Amino acid sequence: MSKERLLIFDTTLRDGEQSPGAAMTREEKLRIARQLEKLRVDVIEAGFAAASPGDFAAIRAIAETIKDSTVCSLARANAHDIEKAGEAIRPAARGRVHTFIATSPIHMQMKLRMTPEQVIEQAVKAVTLARQYTADVEFSPEDAGRSEIDFLCRVLEAVIKAGAKTVNIADTVGYNIPQVWGELFKTLRERVPNSDQAVWSTHCHNDLGLAVANSLAAVLNGARQVECTINGLGERAGNASLEEVVMAVKTRQDLFPVETGIDTTQIVPTSRLVSQITGYVVQPNKAIVGANAFAHESGIHQDGVLKHRETYEIMRAEDVGWQANKLSLGKLSGRNAFKTKLAELGIELASEEALNAAFARFKELADKKREIFDEDLQALVSDELVTPEVEHYKLIASRFHSETGEPPRAELTLAVGGSEKRVEATGSGPVDACFRAIEKLAQSGADLLLYSVNAITTGTDAQGEVTVRLAKDGRIVNGQGADTDIIVASAKAYLNALNKLHAGAERLNPQL
Ligand code: KIV
Ligand code: ZN
Repeated sequence: MSKERLLIFDTTLRDGEQSPGAAMTREEKLRIARQLEKLRVDVIEAGFAAASPGDFAAIRAIAETIKDSTVCSLARANAHDIEKAGEAIRPAARGRVHTFIATSPIHMQMKLRMTPEQVIEQAVKAVTLARQYTADVEFSPEDAGRSEIDFLCRVLEAVIKAGAKTVNIADTVGYNIPQVWGELFKTLRERVPNSDQAVWSTHCHNDLGLAVANSLAAVLNGARQVECTINGLGERAGNASLEEVVMAVKTRQDLFPVETGIDTTQIVPTSRLVSQITGYVVQPNKAIVGANAFAHESGIHQDGVLKHRETYEIMRAEDVGWQANKLSLGKLSGRNAFKTKLAELGIELASEEALNAAFARFKELADKKREIFDEDLQALVSDELVTPEVEHYKLIASRFHSETGEPPRAELTLAVGGSEKRVEATGSGPVDACFRAIEKLAQSGADLLLYSVNAITTGTDAQGEVTVRLAKDGRIVNGQGADTDIIVASAKAYLNALNKLHAGAERLNPQL
């Protein structure tokens, strides 16, 4: 017997982007959106159209590109936001406007300074206006988790009557626990007279570490959409993690009356891409996507797994996309094989020029590294996915010197706005010297908030992937760089972040 569908609404590009420093460029968002489509999420919340022209353009581009998932924009419950959201999703094959207003006493009194009656009136107006742009309108009572039940019932009845097709109950501050959250869904569905005319959705934050547990409790009590993010990214402690919700439902089919449409083999590649782009490293012991999630350390466990896998494993690593590093290409692979492999990985380069540049870099890498894996290719093309007009600073050549008793030294040749410049500096280590040299030229005055290095694959010839987070005048950007030489990777990452600051592509703050 086929089960009811549980819709997966991914908000990595909206709520996830509200993590400090996770703001993404339009190209980065598009790349993630394509991967989310491959993962087969039902809805992609692509951003908050009224937040900035950049956000509007990113949602537009995603709406023009994505065919299989619904593309959604968030909007506060006012005419300006809804018009922007409606315009941004216009090209989508399937587009949704998601409008929200707070319903808890504390938010209504202290933040909105509105009476409950005014809130209901504005919510209804917003849904009615949104319906002029699309039949697919979602309404969220923000801070529903701390709202009064009678009032919540009235608001929800009114917005469903006005045409909301999805009502999304938000635990905005992550205040609830599973039993209470499940009960809330049961009560609301029983008490709202027209509850059968909308899909019930759950949106949980992780302040008490309960976002996934609360979401699952809601599903057991009638929720048929879960809002979640890749790697649990999101405001403060994050949102419910998509991979955990999806795998709990899949693994415990004996308990859940629903199934998702997710292609679970795309979970790990999606997690990697989001981590690489946002600079948010996945902790090794994170469920499903952490490096140790399927590693057995104790001898007793290893022995058990060897005798019969299911003694200690409830899921198969390959079902969520873990595979032994897959050999991709070698030194002798030609341009065509390279192009075909990129297409297989879902990577589209904008022009033949970009493809040629990436191929040249692949050949250089193949000279340094015997085996090239899928992950290496993904890191390698990141450079070509940065639009040329953003590339104000470019590394041309480098030389680093590190010797006992001598201050480490970096000598760099950079292209700055098209003209070549040489610079050198010393520092407490080669990375410090390298960053000081770049700053001597760029004079950005940015603060370095984060520097992290990750090996992309195993072995000492692996590429190091470096993330640098810079802050300047309230703007925070992430830069990435990969190379078999981690000092070069560091220079690339720093320059990538500077290019983003220079382009002014990011918003001051993802949340209005
Ligand atoms: O957490 C929240 O309340 C939200 C809403 C906009 C749904 O993200
Ligand atoms: Zn949220």
